[in-house]
Amino acid sequence: RRVALGIDIGGTNTKFGVVNHRGEVLEKGSLRTDEYKKIEDFIDALYLQVSPLIEKYGTVKNFDGIGLGVPNGNYYTGTVELAPNLPWKGVIPFAELMENKFGMECTITNDANAAALGEMLFGAARGMKDFIMITLGTGVGSGIVANGNVIYGHDGFAGELGHTIVKPGGRKHWSTGSEGSLEAYASATGIAITAKKMRAEFPSSMLNQYPEESINSKTVYECAIKEDPIAIEVFRYTGQKLGEALANFVMFSSPEAILLFGGVIQAGDFILKPAKLHMERNLLPIFRDKVRLVFSELPEADAAILGASALVWEQ
Ligand code: BGC
Ligand code: NA
Repeated sequence: RRVALGIDIGGTNTKFGVVNHRGEVLEKGSLRTDEYKKIEDFIDALYLQVSPLIEKYGTVKNFDGIGLGVPNGNYYTGTVELAPNLPWKGVIPFAELMENKFGMECTITNDANAAALGEMLFGAARGMKDFIMITLGTGVGSGIVANGNVIYGHDGFAGELGHTIVKPGGRKHWSTGSEGSLEAYASATGIAITAKKMRAEFPSSMLNQYPEESINSKTVYECAIKEDPIAIEVFRYTGQKLGEALANFVMFSSPEAILLFGGVIQAGDFILKPAKLHMERNLLPIFRDKVRLVFSELPEADAAILGASALVWEQ
């Protein structure tokens, strides 16, 4: 009968749900993340949306707590530090702010770690002990599971695979300033940059029918299914960069599978096929044709909501 509140904060959207022990998301809601320039305003807005759900289940006493997945969230300290894709700068005592507002205990972790946990407990990674979750959204995140445990590392920040370099000296990251990171290419943000560059080079591309601000992974997808070769090339290139990075990740931790999750996977085979090709091509032979590359089985964002709420009961 007892429930928890699971929250998945993304660079663009935040999704939340009331979850039970069996991994059922009983209620759901969402709000924009990027509209709140101050963390206090964001938490107030979140509270306003969530409190009717809490009332529906009685009071906060019926809740075992809040589990929250957030970019650059730290499980050890309950803080979010210097997040490149969130509007709030500096070091934020996120768990504490949530506890003060909601009157419940709050456990936080990195958003991709939460998604990995959700997938391991309720989704495509059930029964797996070694896998890597890659989340492709506003940013690129990862949750690395080894021997059945999420790797946190010495200070809790392990698994920032989105910021590993896939092209030395390459595209400058809009926030961190690093050159050639996976996130700069394979995130939704990166795809939009690639699409804008490519359409400028090819005036005949269907992508030129959109105003600059509506160039994003969705519009690229619309053009790709209409067989616009430039849109297809945008995804192929994205898939290549992703695949090359995945080869590195496989050789690092020898996973059984790599799970892909997040808005960008709606591009499906346009990205998956080149990703697979370039992953396999760059693997040491001992790893070839072994690692499954699969999409999340859980509906959009549920993995992270479920994984975050599982943290509550893990305590
Ligand atoms: C952050 C990660 C996060 C990912 C996806 C990256 O920019 O550094 O912590 O998991 O975005 O949100
Ligand atoms: Na992580």
